Amino acid sequence: MMSLNLDFIRAQFPAFREPSLEGFAHFENAGGSYACRPTIDWLERYYRQTKVQPYYAFAPSRTAGEQMDAAKERMAAWLNVGSDELHFGPSTSQNTFVIAQALRRHLAPGDEVIITNQDHEANVGAWSRLQDDGIVVREWQVDPETAELNPRDLEALLSPRTKVVAFTHCSNVVGSINPVRELTELVHRAGAWAFVDGVAFCPHGMPDVGALGADLYFFSLYKVYGPHLGAMVLRRELNAQLPNQGHFFNAGKAAARFTPAGPDHAQIAAVNGVMDYMESVANQHGFGDRSVQEQAAAVRNLFRKHETALLQPLLDYLSDHPKVHLIGKVRATERAPTVAFTVKGLRSTELASRLAELKLGVGVGNFYAYRLVKALGIDTDDGAVRASFVHYTSEAEVGRLIEALDRLL
Ligand SMILES: Cc1ncc(COP(=O)(O)O)c(C=O)c1O
Repeated sequence: MMSLNLDFIRAQFPAFREPSLEGFAHFENAGGSYACRPTIDWLERYYRQTKVQPYYAFAPSRTAGEQMDAAKERMAAWLNVGSDELHFGPSTSQNTFVIAQALRRHLAPGDEVIITNQDHEANVGAWSRLQDDGIVVREWQVDPETAELNPRDLEALLSPRTKVVAFTHCSNVVGSINPVRELTELVHRAGAWAFVDGVAFCPHGMPDVGALGADLYFFSLYKVYGPHLGAMVLRRELNAQLPNQGHFFNAGKAAARFTPAGPDHAQIAAVNGVMDYMESVANQHGFGDRSVQEQAAAVRNLFRKHETALLQPLLDYLSDHPKVHLIGKVRATERAPTVAFTVKGLRSTELASRLAELKLGVGVGNFYAYRLVKALGIDTDDGAVRASFVHYTSEAEVGRLIEALDRLL
């Protein structure tokens, strides 16, 4: 299989040529990725040429609306869903709160919602608060030794009263990739809806959301080389069943029902930048003439192969080190390159500061996966160190991180 052309890839990200970032290695991609050049170009162009209210007849307004529509259509096609099913809001946390408001009116006291303690709080807190309205919230818990979720434990929690199961495609701390298709089938067999958090998965290759079977699938574009927006795929049937959260006179407009904040027009237009980038990767690697679905799969595989090759040495180093407790699996093929760990006798915050002095940017804390960090017996204030990367990361950068860890531990 073809390898990723890393020179081409890095040339698409201005951060790699930015003098103020010279020598800095970005290992906090699970927090936010660099933006690709087309995203920045689209934003700049929108503000210069079409920064007017969109969707009117006058030329810049018409163009602005066309750009926003194109962004939605292109990204929806890449995700294999209908463009009427893709919605942009300010963030994933905001999107889940809006849907929770709708559920609050849709569900009845005694109905049940299942959350996990492997998730980021964005896919937990909004649903947990439904308890205030008499909804029963059950927690599907990780094995505290492995930090993994076992589907058999979910089966035991499902009941005829279960209406929603909210779980993550990939934890932003554990990194394992959950079997979404298998889980959505299980949830549907129980007659419930599956709400899936794809925020930590999508930076590693946007999935075929249509094939995953989720009723609601969230991700955040600022981690996928784009602007600061939350994207949500809300399946048509679910949209129609939940009560409108937008202005009352828009109740009949699927696109307006669950995005009451009002969209950031420029950022939506800039989603075209993410799509330009994805398509340029497909073209550069010789897949440009294939169907959109084939391009998406080929780009995903390219990213995955590159990331997996870089990830294994880091996992080997961490799992072999006597002082390190690695969270999650040791085989790169079974997880994303989001690697959290703690070190015996060294505070995580201290280690992160020392790495920062060496111009290595890692994350530290509980990453808002507070319940998970607690369940794993880790101090929720100090938390874990998290080194996360994506396909634009080089072997040399990972080598530098391992060397620095070797020096400091
Ligand atoms: C796995 C996961 N889910 C949800 C979120 C929340 O996303 P947002 O910042 O768009 O609200 C994050 C943010 O870091 C995350 O990592």
